[in-house]
Amino acid sequence: MSDPILQLKDVSTHFPVESGFLFKKRTGTVKAVDGITLDLARGEVLGLVGESGSGKSTLARTILQLVPTTGGTVVLEGRNLTAATATELLAARRGLQMVFQDPFASLNPRLTVFAALAEPLLVHGVVPPDQVPARVAALMEQVGLAPRDQRKYPHEFSGGQRQRIAIARALALEPKIIIADEPVSALDVSIQAQILNLLAGLVRRMNLTLIFIAHDLSVVKHISDRIAVMYQGKIVELGPALDIMERPQHPYTKALISAIPRIERKS
Ligand SMILES: Nc1ncnc2c1ncn2[C@@H]1O[C@H](COP(=O)(O)OP(=O)(O)OP(=O)(O)O)[C@@H](O)[C@H]1O
Ligand SMILES: [Mg+2]
Repeated sequence: MSDPILQLKDVSTHFPVESGFLFKKRTGTVKAVDGITLDLARGEVLGLVGESGSGKSTLARTILQLVPTTGGTVVLEGRNLTAATATELLAARRGLQMVFQDPFASLNPRLTVFAALAEPLLVHGVVPPDQVPARVAALMEQVGLAPRDQRKYPHEFSGGQRQRIAIARALALEPKIIIADEPVSALDVSIQAQILNLLAGLVRRMNLTLIFIAHDLSVVKHISDRIAVMYQGKIVELGPALDIMERPQHPYTKALISAIPRIERKS
């Protein structure tokens, strides 16, 4: 791959398993991420699927270096994050933004939408203070919200609208990569498609790179260029979305596809 934006080389994140009440003893290891090698192209959408506990969120946190890496390297635009200083890491994280399943958890209930979006702009000096209101309004328009709603609080919005606010907040710092960890799992099916379309449109327009995490292949198949299937900390299958859907090789991928309700399947 020419000019990958992100390169993972043999990345592992293991957690100790401890038991005992007063005297904790290490009794084992959870290999949440276990030897993953993966290159991401600029502008690519990667769907990352796997069952609960397969290590998807830990892989996301490993990319951001929010958990200590056990081994391997994470290289963002040529910079090795696993060897970066705290200051370098802070700068790199600006280019890597996350969107979570539950926007309530990532939005402060006491801040208006204006304050939530203005804060990262001011803290990081993205635009001069006098241009903040215009940028907030532009961010709201980008995610399909009415700029006049910027004085409202998170609880005054619907679940889908709150997820749009969380996406706008992620966009505020003009990231290169967005990692969306099950961003539509908590939403009604009818709203899921709208959020998926919004993300797909933003990726195209802003030349973003997107890692989209889901349990379910049916959620990622339409927006992904490639799909990676994760099982017990490893990527067991990786390929163009269409190939994975139509000619799955790994038994676990086949099982995931057969779990999709029949009404959605072509064959
Ligand atoms: N901080 C931690 N300490 C110990 N074990 C952890 C920690 N974080 C995750 N794990 C373990 O690592 C494994 C992978 O968890 P992870 O949250 O990455 O899975 P996931 O694929 O995101 O699951 P889900 O689909 O339910 O969100 C699990 O066995 C989990 O218990
Ligand atoms: Mg998870």
